[in-house]
Amino acid sequence: MTDVQAFGEAERAAVYRVIAERRDVRQGYLETPLPEDLLCRLIAAAHCAPSVGLMQPSRFIVIRDRGVRQAVHEIFSAANRRALENYTGKKAERYSGLKLEGILEAPQNLCVLCDAGNERGHGLGRQTMPETAIYSTVCAVQNLWLAARSEGVGVGWVSILAPEKLSELLNIPEHLTLVAYLCLGYVDGFASEPDLERFGWEKRIDVETVVSYECYSEAAKP
Ligand SMILES: Cc1cc2nc3c(=O)[nH]c(=O)nc-3n(C[C@H](O)[C@H](O)[C@H](O)COP(=O)(O)O)c2cc1C
Repeated sequence: MTDVQAFGEAERAAVYRVIAERRDVRQGYLETPLPEDLLCRLIAAAHCAPSVGLMQPSRFIVIRDRGVRQAVHEIFSAANRRALENYTGKKAERYSGLKLEGILEAPQNLCVLCDAGNERGHGLGRQTMPETAIYSTVCAVQNLWLAARSEGVGVGWVSILAPEKLSELLNIPEHLTLVAYLCLGYVDGFASEPDLERFGWEKRIDVETVVSYECYSEAAKP
């Protein structure tokens, strides 16, 4: 049995610090590749995540090859051009000024997939909420993201990608769902605020505005 007591003060502070100081990183990646053991630690942290029925549905593709990353970047650029068409005026101007990926700058990318139809876990928890398989993979991504921050490694999540194009490029079988495409690498620093806040796209809201008690209350709405 492991110790059921709370962690010591310094360890608790480290957990809250890594949560607060995790950032989505799109720029400032260094060329130095991540050592193999570090990358394995990060993927192992993801693999430790909670999963519905203990099905452990997450699958990972490590991408280092520049040619492959170049092809992913082209998929991003096309999707980003289409995304821009949905904004007009000042919003469009602001959107086009945002840096929304680090696919080529980060020496390694990681594609995270979910094998949602896997029999592991024998359907426990998925009969009522089948989407929990995907949620399990999202938990894996968050584990990796936090572990990476503690190791001084930046992570950037890129969702501006056409999943069918990416699946074709990376030879992803149909039964696997694309959950996340991540850029990973050492960085020259971590910003203290989200980039989208720094560049005037959106602001964070206070936690008090998102909590209701006993039943849902619109009063808590931001
Ligand atoms: C599911 C998901 C998809 C995201 N997709 C993108 C993306 O395509 N491009 C991007 O720049 N950031 C993306 N992000 C990062 C968010 O913009 C970022 O988490 C948010 O602005 C808060 O910033 P922070 O992570 O630095 O706290 C994504 C984040 C999540 C959770």
